[in-house]
Amino acid sequence: MTYRSLPKVELHLHFEGAAPPEFIRQLAHEKKVDLSKIFNSDGTYAYRDFDHFLEVYEGATSVLKSPEDFARLCTAVAEQSAQHGVVYTELFISPDFCGGSDVSAWREYLAAIKEGADKAEAQHGITIKGVATCIRHFGPEMAKQSALCAAETVGDFLTGFGMGGAEMMHRPSDFAYSFDMAREAGLQLTCHAGEWGGPDMVADTINDLRVERIGHGINAIKDRALVDRIAAAGIVLEVCPGSNVFLNASGDLKDHPIKALRDAGVKVTVSTDDPPFFQTTMTKEYEDLAAAFGWDETDFNALNQTALDAAFCDAATKDKIAKRLE
Ligand code: HPA
Ligand code: ZN
Repeated sequence: MTYRSLPKVELHLHFEGAAPPEFIRQLAHEKKVDLSKIFNSDGTYAYRDFDHFLEVYEGATSVLKSPEDFARLCTAVAEQSAQHGVVYTELFISPDFCGGSDVSAWREYLAAIKEGADKAEAQHGITIKGVATCIRHFGPEMAKQSALCAAETVGDFLTGFGMGGAEMMHRPSDFAYSFDMAREAGLQLTCHAGEWGGPDMVADTINDLRVERIGHGINAIKDRALVDRIAAAGIVLEVCPGSNVFLNASGDLKDHPIKALRDAGVKVTVSTDDPPFFQTTMTKEYEDLAAAFGWDETDFNALNQTALDAAFCDAATKDKIAKRLE
């Protein structure tokens, strides 16, 4: 059975990390940048482990320069997602890569990306919202700049603030100021935790950053009391099983914590993270989960409803997307 045409809601998609390799190669060619060392001979991205992945990720991102480049990327990403049945997606966009977290530059980038998103909605029927995402290993000061950018541009398109990057570099409390600023501006909050860090990192992220959603969160499974707390609080996990297996953040898919977390009453959702980097798609995620756990259309419809309920968008958008899921 293929799940390609099943309507899907994706909450965790890094904008730059969703760039098809052909798109990055084309931009590198146009700008005469040599990126041969980040690609394998078969055209896939080449990296050894998570830290190296982050380096290659920044290498690929280095050819994305102007607001127009990002608008083009938005079109390419939306087209790719729509081909896999995605009707709503939240793009994690890093102000650091869009004008170096300078507020007026960021405004221009964001306007161009929103234009790309509007075009994609008209052409492919996919609704896109933006989550400004700071980069943990760039440190708390840069995160403040990203939060300021986000706070200044909160609106119909930019609805959330979050953090990705090297999880073990800082404790969550180092970023409390930024998350407070974003919350006070009206942004909804998510943060990567428990992909590499243990349950303590997940607990501190909930306590210190007061997020509604957690990116990954899979290592919460190692602390039963924490799992129960996450379930009771209704905190949503943006689980990216293919990413975890590919990067060795978890073992084999059949042992992946997504099933135990779901069985324990945690609100789990399914996303791709950085699809071309992890050689995945939303269709492949569903097919692999179906094979590993026997999940079927009923399970996936429930997961998509959970994702829609947790989406960082207004009620009218939720109503519109709910009709697409029927
Ligand atoms: N994990 C953490 N940070 C990231 C990722 C990821 O998978 N992708 C892009 N930034
Ligand atoms: Zn991620």
